[in-house]
Amino acid sequence: MNYIGSKKSLLEFLENSIYQIVGKKDFTFLDLFAGTGAVGQHFKSKGHKVIANDLQYYSFVLNKNYIENHKILEFLELEKELRDLKDIALEKRADFVCKFLDNLDLKEGFIYNNYCLGGTKDKEFQRQYFSDKNGKKVDAIREKIENWKQENKINDSEYYFLLATLIENIDKVANTASVYGAFLKKLKKSAQKEFFMQPANFTLNDNNHSVFNEDIETLIETVKGDVLYLDPPYNHRQYATNYHLLETIAKYDNPKVVGKTGLRDYSSQKSKFSQKKDVRISFENIIQKANVKYIFLSYNNEGLMTEEEIKTIMSKRGKYGILKKEYGRFKADKTENRNHKAQSVIEYLHYVKCR
Ligand SMILES: C[S@@+](CC[C@H](N)C(=O)[O-])C[C@H]1O[C@@H](n2cnc3c(N)ncnc32)[C@H](O)[C@@H]1O
Repeated sequence: MNYIGSKKSLLEFLENSIYQIVGKKDFTFLDLFAGTGAVGQHFKSKGHKVIANDLQYYSFVLNKNYIENHKILEFLELEKELRDLKDIALEKRADFVCKFLDNLDLKEGFIYNNYCLGGTKDKEFQRQYFSDKNGKKVDAIREKIENWKQENKINDSEYYFLLATLIENIDKVANTASVYGAFLKKLKKSAQKEFFMQPANFTLNDNNHSVFNEDIETLIETVKGDVLYLDPPYNHRQYATNYHLLETIAKYDNPKVVGKTGLRDYSSQKSKFSQKKDVRISFENIIQKANVKYIFLSYNNEGLMTEEEIKTIMSKRGKYGILKKEYGRFKADKTENRNHKAQSVIEYLHYVKCR
């Protein structure tokens, strides 16, 4: 997923840097601003036990799948409804279930009625986040997944796998420049294509991992581990507004939506790390409370906190250091590009070996 602040293309830098400071040993990795789960997934694939967390529910769903799921999904209870499933080899069952969902009859549900042209044409605000067909398809699949869950035909692991698969694939056909803060007037080429349930595969291994959906300032009081990796928002852009549609598809809770973009209420998900007046206090709070041996922080040279402020706060816990890497800018849309002269930013990895 093309996600603001994604570390997908910095994984090698993060891995090398963290191993260089901590050593290549068996440590628990805490990814508490997990987003897409890319960093946690990487350390999971290296054999580490991972604890992931994010304030957004869609991110929780992705991480429940990519991080917490670690065994083949057998879909045993679904055999009653999908008769052919019992003849399918265990490792092919997830694909089979995804294909079944791809072929459901379309449904005019919440997404179609609020975010597609067909469903909103007679309403106060016309919206076109998805093609009509993709909107009806997402409704049909989302409802089916929920019904299966309610009827105990799928377990939690299977539920989050299917939801993560839906979120990943619907995001590819969104009619946006990149985030959900606005939609495009005309359906762009990729949005005209039908989406398919390409399985959201996860690494199989023996470790038990855990995933939370909490504000880090609350969670930090109860979790502990060896390496804490922090990748907070760098600026004022709130993830809750930029990804509101993924939140609604993940929760499917029929929220009241308002305005041109159909925003849901996000008052409980405003991040203090995106607010200049709060960020330093919140950051110091988590650094002080973290029950870990090492803390790493990704941040760049355009973030709300300065290099010096971060150094002062982190140094209070022990021996501080910093690593740097030049990195391409996240491009949300043309306006964003126009507002920035530099095509690249400097990505910092601050760290502290805790006393
Ligand atoms: C820079 S992104 C993380 C990107 C991630 N490392 C990746 O590669 O996809 C920051 C994340 O922090 C989350 N977040 C913001 N404030 C938070 C808070 N107070 N507690 C937990 N998560 C928070 C956002 O929802 C967002 O997903």
